[in-house]
Amino acid sequence: MLEIAVVVFLITVPSVITFQPIWIGDSFSEKSFLSPLQNDLLWETCGVQKESKHKEFPWAVSFTVDGVNRLGGSIISPYHILTAAHGFVTTIGARGSLCMDRDLKHPNSSVYRSIEFLRETRKVAYGGKCIRGFTEEYPNDTRCNKPDVIHNKIRSVLVDGDFAASNCTSGHDWAIVEVEQRIQFGKDVQPICLPRPNMYYTRSLTVPGWGRSYIFNESGPLIHEIPMRVDRDCRRPWSDRLPADANDYVCATSMDIYNYSAPRTCHGDSGGGLEYRDDFGRAILIAITSFGTRGCPSNMLARFTRVDVYLDLICKYTGVCYY
Ligand SMILES: *[C@@H]1O[C@H](CO)[C@@H](O)[C@H](O)[C@H]1NC(C)=O
Ligand SMILES: *[C@@H]1O[C@H](CO)[C@@H](O)[C@H](O)[C@H]1NC(C)=O
Ligand SMILES: *[C@@H]1O[C@H](CO)[C@@H](O)[C@H](O)[C@H]1NC(C)=O
Ligand SMILES: *[C@@H]1O[C@H](CO)[C@@H](O)[C@H](O)[C@H]1NC(C)=O
Ligand SMILES: *[C@@H]1O[C@H](CO)[C@@H](O)[C@H](O)[C@H]1NC(C)=O
Repeated sequence: MLEIAVVVFLITVPSVITFQPIWIGDSFSEKSFLSPLQNDLLWETCGVQKESKHKEFPWAVSFTVDGVNRLGGSIISPYHILTAAHGFVTTIGARGSLCMDRDLKHPNSSVYRSIEFLRETRKVAYGGKCIRGFTEEYPNDTRCNKPDVIHNKIRSVLVDGDFAASNCTSGHDWAIVEVEQRIQFGKDVQPICLPRPNMYYTRSLTVPGWGRSYIFNESGPLIHEIPMRVDRDCRRPWSDRLPADANDYVCATSMDIYNYSAPRTCHGDSGGGLEYRDDFGRAILIAITSFGTRGCPSNMLARFTRVDVYLDLICKYTGVCYY
């Protein structure tokens, strides 16, 4: 991928960040909490891909339902995946209509999905490019004859409660998933690095994911790489009335907003990482894919949740504290 426009800039961390933890399932287990020694090891190996001419994404996760991608995520430790909160909220509409008010019809329905539902329906897939092989029902890809991913299960989820509590319009769209089985790192499975607070990064970043490449098409089985360009002014197209000014947003567009076919994030990419490759080629998780203009048009402004804002909380709950 050609890296264009190497414009570097600085954003400052907003000072007031609240946190209201919501546990779906048990709180994280003690064995999943990283020790200082494990942190050293994690810091040495994170964000490094195997030798390859192409970018690889051994930290990319797909939460699937019957082999179809529903949500993305990034591996950050042997037990933890960083993803978006809205994947666990039941009152969320299609991407673009945030927090639909279903509460009137279902006065007792919980805002959050249950752990039983998640354990039963979701598979955590990673370590490969194909989340399914040929099927009758869903789009095929000739490069995916058979699935090559490893499957794991959700043990519990920590959701930032301020996402739903603030009508899904004020940021806080992030969550941490703890998996049941320890994730074994190797050449196809690696954790991505967390960012340093306020770190510098280029304007051209990448989102790996299994989301739809076109609004009306179901997502395919093969991972793809979406180059995105950061827009620090968060300029929305006129048709987009959704918020663009939360404290923890990073905004980005496709590389060419005038090109109808330019790759861009769409349904299913949510939760996936917006990553930066540093001078040493290490991948760093700058932000988490959150939402964008309805229908993912080519001029869409996509919003992402900054990770550096939540480093202290991630450290507190997972033990991933190398900064
Ligand atoms: C909703 O919850 C209230 C209080 O817990 C209960 O009295 C009521 O019967 C419930 N309604 C339904 C439809 O389950
Ligand atoms: C997918 O590929 C298989 C094997 O080539 C074929 O039998 C099937 O009809 C294809 N399904 C679709 C939806 O294209
Ligand atoms: C929540 O957001 C919806 C859609 O943006 C809006 O219609 C509604 O008035 C908002 N509610 C509150 C309490 O802000
Ligand atoms: C969407 O699906 C149609 C019909 O299967 C296909 O012809 C088209 O190429 C797909 N578009 C994209 C962008 O994948
Ligand atoms: C638009 O984007 C597509 C997909 O990346 C690319 O193949 C095509 O060359 C682009 N068209 C123009 C005019 O840049």
